[in-house]
Amino acid sequence: MRGIILAGGNGTRLHPATLAVSKQLLPVGDKPMIYYPLSVLMLAGIRDVLVITMPGDTPQFRRLLGDGSHLGLNITYARQDEPRGIAEAFLIGAGHVGADDVALVLGDNIFHGNAFSELLERESANLNGCTLFGYPVTDPERYGVGETDGEGRLVSIEEKPLRPRSNRAITGLYFYDNDVLELAKDLRPSARGELEITDLNHAYLKRGQARLVDLGRGFAWLDTGTPESLLQASMYVRTLEERQGVRIACIEEVALRMGYIGVEQCHRLGENIGKSAYGQYVMAIADELAA
Ligand code: G1P
Repeated sequence: MRGIILAGGNGTRLHPATLAVSKQLLPVGDKPMIYYPLSVLMLAGIRDVLVITMPGDTPQFRRLLGDGSHLGLNITYARQDEPRGIAEAFLIGAGHVGADDVALVLGDNIFHGNAFSELLERESANLNGCTLFGYPVTDPERYGVGETDGEGRLVSIEEKPLRPRSNRAITGLYFYDNDVLELAKDLRPSARGELEITDLNHAYLKRGQARLVDLGRGFAWLDTGTPESLLQASMYVRTLEERQGVRIACIEEVALRMGYIGVEQCHRLGENIGKSAYGQYVMAIADELAA
């Protein structure tokens, strides 16, 4: 399976914080926001990742993540010239996807939960059409909203409905089979001029090939779209990290635990930023797993 991180958009609700820097590079806790979606793809077993950014932003993302080889990954970059919708990722990223399945994750979505890796690996292995991940929220009208039948098959999906039929928001993590490339070509822009991910998901729904997997109460799916929610996300991450002494979305640790890199390489990566508590954590994890 190939991965795409969509890190586009103008981050207008976060201005002026995002006037000079991409939203997905802002810190959440002590690490850049994009570490969170990147770690999700890595936990799903994905090593080929395309990062789609706004035109001027690619150099900074590249400075941060390079070609990914230090993490045992292959990271490449592409541009979305205008915010023309999430589904455009499959037109921009068609060459990267090739003949494979693909997981798309939005660069500002933060997931955290127990046994997430097992869930992701199971869903990617059993993929038939598309698999979406739902999460109960108190404000579903802000999101894509889905309903399922008893077997987890999606029976309705609406984008930001005025009267939501359920409280299950569709999160910004999407698994698709290779047909997504053809289906994306058939999409027409919505009233707001965008290629809507919800329309794409609806195409799979019509084929009876859309599944919605619930992320239960034990999961956190956090928003980062406004200054308040960004701060809340940071506080959530720091609270858990300080209490448990583990780090969420530490990409070096994920790379090590997934077997993408060895302990020496992990230790080196920690040393490179060894003056920070984050760097020291990376070194300590390497030492722990080496012992
Ligand atoms: C987008 C999607 C929406 C989804 C959300 C998840 O909305 O259109 O279906 O629920 O991402 O973050 P946006 O945040 O771009 O308004």
